[in-house]
Amino acid sequence: MIFNQFSRTAEAAAALRAWGAMTPEGRAVFHDPHALRLTSRVWRARLKNPTQRKLLMDGLLRWMQPIAHQVLARSHHAEARLQAAKVSQYVIVGAGLDSFHWRRPAWAKKLTVFELDHPATQAMKRARCAARALLGEPQWVACNFERESAADALRRSSFDAAQPAFFAWLGVTHYLKPAATRATLAALAEVAAPGSELVFDYSVPPSQIRLGDWPLAAGLGVLTAVLGEPLVGGIKPGTLAEWAHETGWTVMDDLVGPPAGDLHLPQVTRFAHWRRG
Ligand SMILES: C[S@@+](CC[C@H](N)C(=O)[O-])C[C@H]1O[C@@H](n2cnc3c(N)ncnc32)[C@H](O)[C@@H]1O
Repeated sequence: MIFNQFSRTAEAAAALRAWGAMTPEGRAVFHDPHALRLTSRVWRARLKNPTQRKLLMDGLLRWMQPIAHQVLARSHHAEARLQAAKVSQYVIVGAGLDSFHWRRPAWAKKLTVFELDHPATQAMKRARCAARALLGEPQWVACNFERESAADALRRSSFDAAQPAFFAWLGVTHYLKPAATRATLAALAEVAAPGSELVFDYSVPPSQIRLGDWPLAAGLGVLTAVLGEPLVGGIKPGTLAEWAHETGWTVMDDLVGPPAGDLHLPQVTRFAHWRRG
């Protein structure tokens, strides 16, 4: 991320969820009616106007539709895993404009919800929530994963390291150097009581991307670089399995995708589900 600038890819991900909420196939995967309110004014204006939306999403950005479905599918998967986990703490790591706290208020009340994110992105989100009347707040924990341990940041909050937690870390490792991803996996293990679970997605190195998905991966690389957040995080699945072992996690799943019913998803990211034994 550009120093001290909030995440533009967080706005783009919220815009894709907002667009998903406007299409039957998107809604079938994951319905986020709050995403439109949370994204930037520019994205909102484009998406609310039917002509501009068509020009953008069925024209200029049509190539991104599989990525939009992937963004929806990863949120659906994370929340399905959260539902299955027996935990009382939910940590949304690199939360961006995730709307769980407002979208699922009854569920959020049964949990203690923490949002851990880059200080600049979190400040932008807090200001936006206040301005757009999104009431009730998660516990905000600011942390730059490239500079600070996520464990130290969580220790500043009321997070209880003696109780199991569920960590969802979506759409973030792609933008971190692998060393920062490994350090964050180790830091989360430090504060994750036995029974805690972690889901996250990650990119594989270009050599492991299917030839047919190269144009999409290249397009995504250009777009995120233009937004100031280049994709620097490619990791081999075998390396991650070693890191899980070294940092005290057990790999439950490592899927291409994540899967999303009948939708074709590109194989440019994988979806990992780990457990603290
Ligand atoms: C593409 S957004 C994903 C947001 C959200 N998880 C989602 O699925 O929509 C990337 C997120 O990673 C966060 N991020 C990127 N680099 C970071 C860093 N060094 N430290 C903390 N957060 C970071 C950004 O602030 C942003 O919230």
